Amino acid sequence: MEFKRKHLVRAGVGAAAGLGAVALVWGGIAANAVESPEGDFEAQVVGGGPAAEGQYPWLVSIGDELPGEPAAEHFCGGSVIAPNVVLTAAHCVEEKNAVDITVLAGSVDLESPGLNEADVAEIHLAHDWNDPVEFANDWALLLLEEELDVEPIDLAADPEVYDVLETAGWGNLGDDTYPTAAQWVEVPFVTDADCQAAYPGEVDAQTMLCAGDLEHGGVDSCDGDSGGPLMADRDGELVLAGIVSWGYECAVAGQPGVYAEVADFNGAIDDVLEDWGVQ
Ligand code: ARG
Repeated sequence: MEFKRKHLVRAGVGAAAGLGAVALVWGGIAANAVESPEGDFEAQVVGGGPAAEGQYPWLVSIGDELPGEPAAEHFCGGSVIAPNVVLTAAHCVEEKNAVDITVLAGSVDLESPGLNEADVAEIHLAHDWNDPVEFANDWALLLLEEELDVEPIDLAADPEVYDVLETAGWGNLGDDTYPTAAQWVEVPFVTDADCQAAYPGEVDAQTMLCAGDLEHGGVDSCDGDSGGPLMADRDGELVLAGIVSWGYECAVAGQPGVYAEVADFNGAIDDVLEDWGVQ
């Protein structure tokens, strides 16, 4: 059960589009989810708290445009980093065509009439995605056909040792149901050493950042949250420290969430933005 879990989780991404078809990755999460961890991490994506309207203006849903269907089907999260650019996870879009996906922005509620939809003109996958280990450099950029009228989030500039971070998205709540309103959760920072001990041989400390309650579990991102933001407070403002990437199951003690570490590749992101003529 231990290995290949990550792959199952990844398979869950595609299945997440069919909401409810992701039962395969589950095992004992519900029990963890209701248990309150010792710290004061109140809201949880697994079992947890809905984000308030406007709490994360840059948070977007990326969905498949299905022929004959009016609404796009959510499969991953993302963050607006410039009016016409979304940062997400490479594993979310590596097998997608730009014309088949769409970005929904402007509300935490996927059924809100206030949502704006933007088509995708181009997908840029990190050139070193999956190098030096599987899931390393798990980032991709979407160039949008039109500008979104939402506040972008700044990228973290330097790798840091954080205290607590927060993440948000429309992913699995822990019982194989998916919320209409985005959920958010506070997740304690996990050091590179602890994360490498949790997942021997799988964590590239350079390009990955881990978070979760190692001892108690109970707080985590989960399937369908991939691509979405891991945020840190910098002088009262949130900056983008990570991108939801992978983990074995969700919210389980000893199995933290792993995130792409934005500070490691923000220079490479800037290069792409420059190529695209984005300020
Ligand atoms: N790979 C998942 C997705 O595509 C995200 C998994 C995050 N897992 C975790 N335990 N934090 O949605």
